Amino acid sequence: MSDVETLDRPPPIGRHGRVSAEEQREFARAKQMLPGGALGGNALAEDVKFVFKRGEGGRFWDVSGNCYIDYVLGSGALVLGHAHPAVQAAVADQAMRGTHFFAYLNEPAVQYAERLMPHFRCAERIRFTTSGSESTFHAMRLARAFTGRSKVLKFEGAYHGNHDYAQLSTSPKRASNYPVGVPDTAGIPDVVKGLTLVAPFNDLEAARAIIAANKDELAAVIVEPIQRIISPQPGFLQGLRDATREHGVLLIMDEVVTGLRYGLGGAQAYFDVVPDLATYGKIIGGGLPVGAVAGRADILDQADPSTKANPGYVYQNGTLQGHPLGCAAGMATLSVLETPGFYDRLFAMADRLRAGLQQVFDRHDMGAVVFGEGPMWHFLFTDRAPVTYRDVLESDQKKLAAFDTELIRQGIFVLPGTRRFVAATHTEEDLAVTFEAFDRACRAFKA
Ligand SMILES: Cc1ncc(COP(=O)(O)O)c(C=O)c1O
Repeated sequence: MSDVETLDRPPPIGRHGRVSAEEQREFARAKQMLPGGALGGNALAEDVKFVFKRGEGGRFWDVSGNCYIDYVLGSGALVLGHAHPAVQAAVADQAMRGTHFFAYLNEPAVQYAERLMPHFRCAERIRFTTSGSESTFHAMRLARAFTGRSKVLKFEGAYHGNHDYAQLSTSPKRASNYPVGVPDTAGIPDVVKGLTLVAPFNDLEAARAIIAANKDELAAVIVEPIQRIISPQPGFLQGLRDATREHGVLLIMDEVVTGLRYGLGGAQAYFDVVPDLATYGKIIGGGLPVGAVAGRADILDQADPSTKANPGYVYQNGTLQGHPLGCAAGMATLSVLETPGFYDRLFAMADRLRAGLQQVFDRHDMGAVVFGEGPMWHFLFTDRAPVTYRDVLESDQKKLAAFDTELIRQGIFVLPGTRRFVAATHTEEDLAVTFEAFDRACRAFKA
């Protein structure tokens, strides 16, 4: 790619100041109705915000007609990219026969459970939910009921969803005083704050010490096997498995991100560590709201409705769980994932992306390190890939925020500051266009 090529051709993607009157009107209406004009906790900067119109494969278009390459991919739910024909067909087909039946048995849910369970090594039972947050919430409740203990240990920088037991030290700006967590949101009752302990990720000795010191009160340790984008150090996950087992504490592997992404067996197979419970979301819904808790029969059977009269019964229910449309979308996705060579291609695509991006950064002397494992990637302005959450904090976060905003301006959609995904439907052309956009972003940034 020569300078002349990148400078002379009009960028095929990105906004470049094109905002239609229609999109402006939608921003204005959203601002009147929605807190902060946003649907959730992530709002884009004023000059790069957009309204999604449609998506296809690894790309999407905004209301003004501008095209972007998508590395957010529905927060990682769309491993097949947008509007995959097999998923569309499965959802349409199910929709013709009914969209929702409440959490009684329905055919797609039973079929999907049967297809998923052989892939998940811990899964003697599975219970569908409607999101990753619900999955971690219910896994924690099941663990508390099973052990008769109240506390759960999580790791600094890990995200397990939006509920009160998870919103501690997910992204603390100041150092945690382990094992005391730092609340990420207002509104968590004081009594609840103390129930979630926090340890540093990838520090097995620290985790072991906290587990041992709190063993009589600790129901479970919950871990993201790849924490956001930080890979576990060799032996870390197995060390947690051993330490939890030694003290009768349950190990919950939060596979909301890794499930079906790091192979059909997710992180359990990838790292060869089997937890007591695993939580799922994102990919298993094929882009629709499906989550799941899978694991040991003796733990999940606490939620057997025929035992409602028993004191040990655990309530786990939701209007939309086992959703037939979501299970149909998930099954259609799974069929593609089960195609021989699928993960080899996905991983190879991510490797090429990482290598190409590092070249662009190096060419411009940007002082960035591109890293990640398998189909997730990220870069930080630092000199080495992070091993702990503190390493991430010590990288140049301001520069990252500014560069990520420039990327969106150039048509590369990333969630600012957060790790990114690759879809199986990203094409070689998408990669080439991405490298050009990064090149433009580096120039703009330095200018
Ligand atoms: C590891 C992990 N657990 C749980 C969740 C929560 O899932 P959801 O947003 O579907 O509630 C997320 C969401 O990003 C996640 O990454």
